Amino acid sequence: MVLPVYVYGSGVLKKEAAPVTGDYPGLGQLIADMWDTLYNAGGVGLAAPQVGHMIRLAVIDASAFKDEDAAANGFKRVFINPEILEWSEEMSGFNEGCLSIPGIHEEVKRPKRVRVRYLDENFRERDEWLDGVPARIVQHEYDHIEGILFTERLAPIRRKILAGKLANIARGKSGADYKTKIA
Ligand code: NI
Repeated sequence: MVLPVYVYGSGVLKKEAAPVTGDYPGLGQLIADMWDTLYNAGGVGLAAPQVGHMIRLAVIDASAFKDEDAAANGFKRVFINPEILEWSEEMSGFNEGCLSIPGIHEEVKRPKRVRVRYLDENFRERDEWLDGVPARIVQHEYDHIEGILFTERLAPIRRKILAGKLANIARGKSGADYKTKIA
């Protein structure tokens, strides 16, 4: 089932999310609904707070970037309680977007590689180094569960330039072609 995506201006996007416990009600259904929501909106990553669940959960399918980055090919994962344990010193820039900030794309600099430990959808522990686009998306989704949006990582001058557009999104004028919500 496709869920509405909370957009910029919503309080749920600004709060730190809580760890997922194995008995979280309807977790399997929520993960299925997050995949439906992600694909319906044409996104590559979605964190649970974006659909109003304040838990540390994200789904990522980086396949849309397979032509730009071979590492993205077939990269499809559920991340439960992810932790970023190590970062490369090497940084890279990438034009990021976010389903919660429709119509805005801006270059964000982040570490090129990260080591992430998480539980998969079967609550099996995984620990892997990610590079390129997958590393980028994981860091973006990790920010969501910490209550951080990519616009907060932009230079103040860029944020100033975007202020009008962001205010429009917060007023419900997002222009998104998927179901959105503000709360
Ligand atoms: Ni996002």
